[in-house]
Order: sequence, then C-alpha cells, then structure tokens
Amino acid sequence: MLTIGVDIGGTKVAAGVVDPEGQILDKVKYPTPSNDPQALADVVAGAVGELRGRRDADAVQAVGVGVAGFVDEDRATVQVAVNLGLRDEPLRDHVQERVGLPVVIENDANAAAWAEARFGAGRGSDHIVCITLGTGIGGGLVIGGALHRGRYGVAAEVGHYRMVPHGRRCACGNHGCWEQYASGRALVAEAQDLALTDPAAAERMLKLADGVIDQVEGHVITQAALEGDRAALECFAKVGEWAGHGLADLAAILDPECFVLGGGVSDAGSILLDPVRASFARNVPGRPGRRMAEVRLAELGGEAGIVGAGDLARH
Ligand code: BGC
Ligand code: NA
Ligand code: ZN
Repeated sequence: MLTIGVDIGGTKVAAGVVDPEGQILDKVKYPTPSNDPQALADVVAGAVGELRGRRDADAVQAVGVGVAGFVDEDRATVQVAVNLGLRDEPLRDHVQERVGLPVVIENDANAAAWAEARFGAGRGSDHIVCITLGTGIGGGLVIGGALHRGRYGVAAEVGHYRMVPHGRRCACGNHGCWEQYASGRALVAEAQDLALTDPAAAERMLKLADGVIDQVEGHVITQAALEGDRAALECFAKVGEWAGHGLADLAAILDPECFVLGGGVSDAGSILLDPVRASFARNVPGRPGRRMAEVRLAELGGEAGIVGAGDLARH
C-alpha cells in the first residue's frame, strides 16, 4: 500500500508518494502560501492530486501531513503554527474534504523523527531525540519505538524552549526561544548582520548573493562555508554552539541514546556537526563521567518529513 506524505514547512510544501520501505517514488514541491489556511489546504490538495494523477486510481490509500506547528493529539487540528501564521486550524478536515482520502496531521519534526528512527540515522536505537534545524527548530522523541506526543499532542516543542532569559523576541510571543539562536533563520540573521556591519568580512557570501544582503540565504552561507570561507564558517560555529547548549539541556532531561540532527542547516554536514558536538560535550551536565548520547546527522535529509508523514499515515 502506498501513501502520500506532505511536509509543510515555513517556505515550501513538499509532497511525495511513500512505499512501506520508506522510499519516495515520486515528488512535487510548491511555495508555502502565508497566513491563508484555505490557500494552504488548496496547495496540499493540489500536490496530492498531482501525485495521484500519475498512478493507478486506487494506488494511494492515505495522506499524512507534517506541519510546522503545535498539532493536537487528535492529529486533526493545528493549535498554533507561529511561523505559518495558523491558529486553531482544522487542517485535517480542510485537506480531507478536498482529497477524499483518510488524512492525519502530524507535527513536521515528529514526522521527521519517526522517519529517521525507522529508516534513517536512528535505526537500531531505542531512545532518539531528533532535532530539525530549519526555519525554526523542531523536535521529535521516539522512545521505546513509539513517538512520544505528550498529553495534548505537543511534546518536544523544543524550539520554544526559552534558552536566554529576556533574549531575542520569538514569533510565539516569548523571548529567548532556542530557535532564535540555532535555527536556519538564526544562521541567516547572523550572516546578514555581518554583511551589513562588515561587508569586507562577508565578501564571499555577498558575492554569491549577487551583492544583495537579503539574498544571503541558507544555501549561500552553506556554499561559502563548504568552500572554506571564514565568515561563513563562523556563522555555523555560532549556531552550532547554541545548538550544543540545547542538546546538553535536553540530555539532562531525556537522556537519549542519540541525537539526530536534521533540517536544512544540517545539509552543511560536519561544518555544523563539529561545533555542535564540541559545544554539547562542553556543556552536558555530569561530565566527565556520565555516559554520553551520540550526536549524529540525519540520513534522510530534506525527505524525512515526507517519509515520516507518509509512514505515520499508514500506521
Ligand atoms: C514550531 C514547531 C516546528 C518547528 C520546526 C517551530 O517553530 O513551533 O511546531 O516543529 O518550528 O518546523
Ligand atoms: Na515535535
Ligand atoms: Zn518561541
């Protein structure tokens, strides 16, 4: 049986046909419409329709939608999605009435965690904390082989863990949330700030962005860092340092066997992983002596959300 997994992120809606082994057989992608729930449901339904149109009429049996927000334990309602501008949104019903298949809604990072646990970097581990560094920071806990959702569905909203008292303002209304320091958006803010205040230091990134500060985006910073550009590497070092602080705190509470780092920022590979591991080792409570969780890179890359949402729709 095939399902369709949809990943609604801050910038794009990606959908794919997923088989029982977690393979994506076909894929489409659209920009995320902002602050318009009906338009969002239209885009999701359009993507599902397009994918189904290319297969036998009854090949696809269910749809799983991962969305970057607080999703209710009924797996139907988005309580709040700060980076998408959604509040108390019956997204499952909107999508279901458009596609005419059973639909489940999941938190995007829960979906990614599930995919990594079953088919990716978490295979074989029983206590996994998956962290996605994208527009925001997402979290997913797979404990004893099951996704831990909490009483109201919104466990592991780690992006809004308040790391810095009175710190940077967050779209959620609080200040100092972890995602203001260690997400893709934080990385971009860091680089753009440098480009503004010290354009000479940010020369390579600016060149790759055609001289336009607004175009110093994640892929530009990653490319410059992969070329060895010092300024770009420093941006990753800062974000990695903050990320490691968060993992240290999470280890104090959850004691996982491994952390899996995913999301767009992790495309930089060891450029991100090295500073995260170093910061985690410097900050984890009980060191030296305690047994340490391993910090690994996700294996399914940008596809984890699709695979996980599709697989959760099957289960
Ligand atoms: C949202 C989470 C989401 C994460 C990653 C956060 O801002 O609150 O629900 O998982 O971003 O997309
Ligand atoms: Na989550
Ligand atoms: Zn927040």
